[in-house]
Amino acid sequence: MNKATPEQRPITVRDFADRKRKGEKIVVMTAYDALFGRLVDESGVDAILVGDSVGTAIMGYSSTLPVTLDHMIYHASAVRRGVKRALVIIDMPFLSYQASIESAVLNCGRAIQESEASAVKVEGGSPEMLATVHALVRTGIPVMAHIGFTPQSVNTIGGARVQGREDESAMRLIEEAKGLEEAGAFAIVLELVPNAVSARITKAVGIPTIGIGAGVDCDGQVLVLPDVLGLNDTFDPKFLKRYAEMAKEVRSAIGTWARDVRSGAYPDAEHSF
Ligand code: KIV
Repeated sequence: MNKATPEQRPITVRDFADRKRKGEKIVVMTAYDALFGRLVDESGVDAILVGDSVGTAIMGYSSTLPVTLDHMIYHASAVRRGVKRALVIIDMPFLSYQASIESAVLNCGRAIQESEASAVKVEGGSPEMLATVHALVRTGIPVMAHIGFTPQSVNTIGGARVQGREDESAMRLIEEAKGLEEAGAFAIVLELVPNAVSARITKAVGIPTIGIGAGVDCDGQVLVLPDVLGLNDTFDPKFLKRYAEMAKEVRSAIGTWARDVRSGAYPDAEHSF
């Protein structure tokens, strides 16, 4: 029998802890469908987050708030079908886990059952959220936490603002991170947090921190796929580095095809039966 090599074996939440212990960076990318799930997986990332960023990146909403649990399950199950190795994490949308511990367990359980993702992500580090994370982990649901700028609270925060700039808010983030580790989270996303504060959080906890706009000292990084590929060329925050300019490629390819159709150059003999 052929045994999977460590490079082929599916990634689990235990690999996250190992990576931190060994000082190896963790690479997380978002995806929202089976096609890109497969391509991102084949690129060798450690985890794929099916983020509720699907709302803004793909569905055309101006925030993540309109995204529903049904939307998330639809996208995560598509990603799951495309992925062989990376850990697939489903982001829990607004209102699917905040109202009560019971609704959180039922909705996160449904998300895992129907999408076949291996873990959930939830936002926040309040005492209520720590109790929820604890209950989810006890139920057997691995939890990635998310603090700093939490997009589902954009209306109370008042925009996508860097969090933890003042001593008091920095201390609060450190305490939230410690609480989330104690509650059983296997990793914590830090979004829009100053480098110095992420470095302190990363030192203070034994679980990996995964940064987005949170500097180089996090244990790993996550970015949103259409932003990295330059497919979403209207979004240009300071932390984003584009690794391709695919929006230009798409317009150019479709524009050329449209010209060929109009001129009769497509389909030519080579592409006809
Ligand atoms: O929804 C998402 O894609 C996220 C990442 C940006 C961390 O929460």
